[in-house]
Amino acid sequence: MLKTHACGELRAEHATQEVVLAGWVHRRRDQGGLIFIDLRDRMGITQLVINEETHPEIHAAAKDIRNEWVIQVKGRVRLRPEGMINPNLPTGDVEVEVLGLSILNRAKTPPFYINKEESLDESLRLRYRYLDLRRERMQRNIILRHEIVRHIRNYLSERRFIEIETPILFKTTPEGARDYLVPSRVHPGKFYALPQSPQQLKQLLMVAGFERYFQIARCFRDEDQRGDRQPEFTQLDMEMSFVEREDILDLVEGMFTSIVDELTDLELVTRPFKRLSYQEAMELYGSDKPDLRYDLHAVDVSDIAGRSGFSIFTANVEAGKPVKAMRVPNLGAESSSQLKKIHQELEGLAKSTGAKGLAYMAIPTEEGGEVRGPIGKFFSPELQVELFERLNVQPSDLLLFVSDERQITYEVIDTLRRHLATKLNLYDDKTVAFVWIIDFPLFEWNADENRWDPSHHLFTSPYPEDIPLLDTDPAAARGLQYDLACNGFEVAGGSIRIHQREVQEKIFELIGLDVEDARQKFGHMLEAFEYGTPPHGGIAAGIDRLVMLLAGEPNIREVIAFPKSQQAADLMAGAPSEVFPEQLRELHINIVPVEDKN
Ligand code: AMO
Ligand code: AMP
Repeated sequence: MLKTHACGELRAEHATQEVVLAGWVHRRRDQGGLIFIDLRDRMGITQLVINEETHPEIHAAAKDIRNEWVIQVKGRVRLRPEGMINPNLPTGDVEVEVLGLSILNRAKTPPFYINKEESLDESLRLRYRYLDLRRERMQRNIILRHEIVRHIRNYLSERRFIEIETPILFKTTPEGARDYLVPSRVHPGKFYALPQSPQQLKQLLMVAGFERYFQIARCFRDEDQRGDRQPEFTQLDMEMSFVEREDILDLVEGMFTSIVDELTDLELVTRPFKRLSYQEAMELYGSDKPDLRYDLHAVDVSDIAGRSGFSIFTANVEAGKPVKAMRVPNLGAESSSQLKKIHQELEGLAKSTGAKGLAYMAIPTEEGGEVRGPIGKFFSPELQVELFERLNVQPSDLLLFVSDERQITYEVIDTLRRHLATKLNLYDDKTVAFVWIIDFPLFEWNADENRWDPSHHLFTSPYPEDIPLLDTDPAAARGLQYDLACNGFEVAGGSIRIHQREVQEKIFELIGLDVEDARQKFGHMLEAFEYGTPPHGGIAAGIDRLVMLLAGEPNIREVIAFPKSQQAADLMAGAPSEVFPEQLRELHINIVPVEDKN
């Protein structure tokens, strides 16, 4: 080794020892006769002192040293003088008096500071990702990621799971996104599809008798990018045989609870994890991944509003559209001009989500005061009492009302919740809240294509008692599927699978896959199901999203060493890129210029 100790390792008890350290120059302070260097490696920072009087040559050489140079020093550990102790640094009691210096490598001036946290253009960071990753925040995130993955591996291995790798060059595994395709040289005109998940393979591993499988699996999905999506991302993928839903939920709950408790300083506020049916989640929060760190929620007041004199509400209720209300504490106490501004802002948000308006009532601060807002007058005193009881109204509340197609009301409620939570500081960002969403409908109607789409994926089992509904009323069939949401993000999803060929074929039929198509795409699955398939189920968790939430980061790029940009590009290496004509020839591919595409 080129060093005897790591830069974060030295303490008072090392005083008088001779050590060799190596690392990067984090910061250099030239104080004339003394030069101080903060030397950094992955384990921390140690202060070096170079004294002109005792070591004039080293001092002269150190004058040229700049940040990010790589150096090695030999030196003696000593206690820092009284008053120079740095309590913020684990090595802050000591410093190393330099007795020998070698410059291992010089560095150009980096395009941004490594030693300070400042707001930076993200494309610059991604272009120089290897420098960005040197920064403390990124080191912390990547190390946390490692610890979480290690914890998962231990947790599952202790419970007799085995880790099995599955191929990347495979056949389409639909999860609702577009496939990435890889042309085959050996089979002209044919393509591999990169897996959107190992879904088929993990089920086949159950047919193969492994019973408990997991994998830290890379998945590929060509879809529009967002802060919580990447074209390639990592799942903790799991599958178990001879289990019921509860077994899987318990296992994951135990694992995630121990991750939060042992690896973070966050407070888990849902112990045990909350559970909501899909229907409840949508009605209360307008989302199947609600953030439960705060309590804002919607209440259906259609029956009351339908009896008011407000024609928009009565007409909507008549037409079967709901009226939903949400009570926001304290905002009702604002001055009238302030209230107007707040309403304008919130109504703007609601309209951007597709609503036609957002009505409100401001509840007086004291009993006997007057309800403010344009729609109060349309509710008789008796109706107001009924409404306020339904909503459990408190003094100074602001009540917000939206009425529209059900789906739009959901989106408005979700948008308002997220907005108000941030604006009003409704949650402590040192907390995490997990919620299981269960009892999803098995299908969603796809009006464009005139067919049912699976709401999870096509291998999800219906509730056994709902199987007859597949013939009579598919919309009412519930799936044995579950999602786990955390702080407003979907972090995991899975299901109990279909393990009988007949049921699987029925599902193919409902989603409009004819037998021939199904056989071509999934014939191997159907065939496998005929050789003694155990009942099985599983789940996959988004590792990137989980680490993002536990690291307190706003997007998953911050916890991926080499992420793609929002435009799905690698800005450092310049991918995707053109290839040599020879490569295309070998693959039998002709590039059609974009303008000729149609
Ligand atoms: P699903 O499609 O719900 O299920 O994916 C599981 C979890 O993976 C994460 N995730 C993503 N993370 C980052 N970028 C993306 N583009 C992205 N897409 C998904 C989410 C999600 O909850 N095979 C099934 C699992 C199963 O049924 O066992 C599956 O892939 O956190
Ligand atoms: P108006 O009578 O059109 O001025 O509307 C009175 C209030 O009702 C305004 O605050 C509107 O934003 C609100 N409003 C209009 N349409 C809706 C709707 N569909 N749902 C909720 N509020 C609405």
